[in-house]
Amino acid sequence: MTARPASRLAGTVTAPGDKSVSHRALILGGMAQGVTDIEGLLEGEDILATARAVAAFGAEVERLGPGRWRVTGHGGFRQPEGVIDCGNAGTGVRLLMGAAAGYPIIVTFDGDVSLRKRPMKRVTTPLGEMGARFEWSGEEDRLPLRLTGGDLRGLSFTQSVASAQVKSALLLAGLNARGLTEVIEPERSRDHTERMLRAFGAEVQVTEQGAGWRIRLEGGQGLTGTPVAVPGDPSSAAFPLAAGLIVPGSEVTVENVMLNPLRTGLFDTWREMGADLTVSNRRESGGEIVGDITARHSALKGVVVPEARAASMIDEYPILAATAALASGRTVMRGIGEMRVKESDRIALMARGLAACGVAIEEEPEGLIVTGGPVAGGSTVETAHDHRIAMSHLVLGLAARAPVSVRDPEMIATSFPGFVALMQGLGADIEAG
Ligand code: S3P
Repeated sequence: MTARPASRLAGTVTAPGDKSVSHRALILGGMAQGVTDIEGLLEGEDILATARAVAAFGAEVERLGPGRWRVTGHGGFRQPEGVIDCGNAGTGVRLLMGAAAGYPIIVTFDGDVSLRKRPMKRVTTPLGEMGARFEWSGEEDRLPLRLTGGDLRGLSFTQSVASAQVKSALLLAGLNARGLTEVIEPERSRDHTERMLRAFGAEVQVTEQGAGWRIRLEGGQGLTGTPVAVPGDPSSAAFPLAAGLIVPGSEVTVENVMLNPLRTGLFDTWREMGADLTVSNRRESGGEIVGDITARHSALKGVVVPEARAASMIDEYPILAATAALASGRTVMRGIGEMRVKESDRIALMARGLAACGVAIEEEPEGLIVTGGPVAGGSTVETAHDHRIAMSHLVLGLAARAPVSVRDPEMIATSFPGFVALMQGLGADIEAG
């Protein structure tokens, strides 16, 4: 897929449903008793894999219309038939493992080539301490694996790195464990699971603990189905907004973007870089604050991104790096070692891709430093089956001197199936080939 230099982008678009919230709505709906009607569900491949998994665990899952889904749960997961294939989705598999661990079932989990490379011990080790059993089919720490769940006891777990996926897996398992489950995070990570557990009728206690939170939940709590309105995904909105910032003369508005402060680190960073970013129509929707964000072309300057901000923008460093390539001066991103274990090694892939586009880049074990300026482009970039690497380079191509092409663009459909059409609607020249 190729993005060609654009003269000006303009228009108003709507962000697709949030991926994190969409996974959780389906999973909690499947664990609950009764009906969960979901509006605005992201219909990306990752989420469709979770929907199939939840159906395999015994819930009825129906698509009522675009983004409108109904999950009818029977108060717990049942023994599935066959393998639970989570495709490309780390969040899907880790949260489903946590949820499934609480029930007396035996489940084989698997995923695609990218997911099979990602570490699973971060969830299987603490779930094992709660009493779940795991057997690796091949390499240790990697999918496929077999889980034997049930008969769990609560656990107090202190994370070394803030991870919402690990926290969520333990809380979902804790619902069906004996006694108290407690997770202590070093920094605050996205709190969608805690919010949604409450909406489904569970009691969750959250107190401050240093820079992070201590989250506690008593076992033996059932969930009750409830309507969920999924807000727009700030991680997806980032791509058209980035294009608005770096293509001269542009003005791009993305509507219905979730503004949960644990997800908006990128927008804070862009503002520090001098971005003209305004939020209007701030309102509440589905228990989250949402708003419409307008990005206008801006003369960006490099900044040092505070390391403590990493958890609130961990998925946004690739697109930040792309915009930093057009800023004046150096943008320093450190404390981002977690980027190496996402859908790809995102530090390595961004370093290679930006270098191929003529950008001055320094790669560190846990960091990336971009020195901005005019971007040459004129290259084809490897994406290693990573949607965000693909979209970041396509956006960069809109503001480069020569087109930028990416390999494996079909992975964009995991999180943002309408990406190309939406960008074309804003005037971008992005097409297959
Ligand atoms: C997510 C948490 C983050 C993030 C991922 C979605 C979630 O992962 O990168 O895309 O929905 O909980 P970690 O928990 O591994 O940091």
